[in-house]
Amino acid sequence: MLTEERRGQVRTRARAAIEQATLRKDAWWAEPFVSMAVLGIFVVYATWAAIIGTHYYSDPYISPLYAPCIADRCAHVSFHIIGSFWRWSPALLIILFPLGFRTTCYFYRRVYYRGMGMPSACAVREPWPRYLGESKRPFIVMNIHRYFFYVAFILALLHWSDFVLSFHFKAGWGIGFGTLLMGLDTVLLSLYVLSCHAGRHFLGGHVDKFSQAPIRYRLWKLSSYFNPKHGPIAWASLVSVMLVDIYVRLLSYGVFHDPHLILLGK
Ligand code: FES
Repeated sequence: MLTEERRGQVRTRARAAIEQATLRKDAWWAEPFVSMAVLGIFVVYATWAAIIGTHYYSDPYISPLYAPCIADRCAHVSFHIIGSFWRWSPALLIILFPLGFRTTCYFYRRVYYRGMGMPSACAVREPWPRYLGESKRPFIVMNIHRYFFYVAFILALLHWSDFVLSFHFKAGWGIGFGTLLMGLDTVLLSLYVLSCHAGRHFLGGHVDKFSQAPIRYRLWKLSSYFNPKHGPIAWASLVSVMLVDIYVRLLSYGVFHDPHLILLGK
């Protein structure tokens, strides 16, 4: 058993006395800086778009930030769950779940931990001497991610119904540029959820004998295929959410018209 004095000696010997925060000469700061900038732009934009509560629907497209829309005051109600007493933006009823899912995502955690210098890169001094990892407070709360996964899984399924409805125009069934954007967003969201680390464990990671659980084995294999690409998928999905919201918003403001083709008129 080491005495406190001995521990102090070991600690002193273990680290070289370097004055500079780092001796690295490469642009180690570029990745955390750019990542935090993109994340910051998304957070500011999504907060604004969710709070204003208008121009989030342009028939037949709905912004992913408001889907599923569950309040009676929605421009396009997906499910009548919240009555007319709700006077604020309908996005506020739903956004906590995708936001919580993304905020606690292992990949985004890496992004913003590095962005906040916990630490930013290898061989760069940490400005947070008391950072204790995620097994202690306050970051132990990140373990809630698996519960957000369950909700995100359901939301991703519901996204597909909004995608199907995006083919349904006032004049009949057809396809528009917005349909393609919503399709891309739906696929990316589904891949983001499917490749989730917690989801991979849920789908089959804890199964002892795959020979007795063939469906779970297949799902786990599918998740395992996309799991190493989780980071790029997370970025693509983040950007697509913002793109679809901007597209729907501009249509709703009448800035331009959605090019579409009616294949089956009423
Ligand atoms: S680890 Fe990223 S969504 Fe679960």
